Amino acid sequence: MKKIVIAIDGYSACGKSTAAKAVADELGYIYIDSGAMYRAVTLYFIENYVNLTNPKAVDKALDDIQITFIRNPKTGAVETYLNGLNVEYDIRSMEVSLKVSEVSALTQVRKVMVEQQRRMGKKRGVVMDGRDIGTNVFPDAELKVFMTADFHVRAERRQKELLERDNLVNLDEIKANLRHRDKLDTTREENPLRKAEDAYEIDTTHLTIEEEIEEIINLATSKMIGEKVNEESN
Ligand code: CDP
Ligand code: CDP
Repeated sequence: MKKIVIAIDGYSACGKSTAAKAVADELGYIYIDSGAMYRAVTLYFIENYVNLTNPKAVDKALDDIQITFIRNPKTGAVETYLNGLNVEYDIRSMEVSLKVSEVSALTQVRKVMVEQQRRMGKKRGVVMDGRDIGTNVFPDAELKVFMTADFHVRAERRQKELLERDNLVNLDEIKANLRHRDKLDTTREENPLRKAEDAYEIDTTHLTIEEEIEEIINLATSKMIGEKVNEESN
């Protein structure tokens, strides 16, 4: 079957990355967490006191940043590396969450990230999740999914996840962060979060992760079969 690109966009804590990882594993595709890339850039900016209002400083920092994804041989999970260091844990901190939407609104940052993401998906056979994958990074993706979920459910999911990491964050703080990021991500000038016209919308409020995965696999299978039929008829 022809390899396709699966773009999964949507709001925070809708279940994008959990589903994307599982779908990629099942199809033998590469999984790319584009949000992890923006988070890694943000971590670097915080650690190096990069002034976001100074374009030269931003360019210099971007030149100095190398992001890679490496599969952990013990757990099988793909982890994010920043300049050779495993930052998978650090990029999920509240400190990074508080700053990431400002950093990812910068034109220079988006330009560099999008170039890298397109390179990673060049050979197809990739599942990528984020905010602008279906609208900007891969407007030609064969399957586009746009995920939504009830705001309170999203906040509770994120809190549970953070608690599992031993990170005690109260629900109000999480809600404030989600609200802040939703606003910046949907209103920024460049490639804001929005549903691509040809995306399938999935409301995950009442779905289990298994149901989400099944729905995406079914959609992907029909796209892959569709592609094959088209190819054969050419
Ligand atoms: O996991 P969570 O949904 O909390 O967020 P994420 O996917 O890790 O993305 C973190 C932030 O990166 C988002 O709130 C956006 O500001 C930014 N982002 C973006 O601008 N474009 C993307 N393709 C992915 C993430
Ligand atoms: O990538 P995104 O921020 O959209 O969400 P995620 O990181 O995949 O999911 C956030 C949390 O919600 C994870 O702990 C998932 O296990 C959980 N989740 C859930 O309980 N039920 C769903 N249908 C989807 C996600």
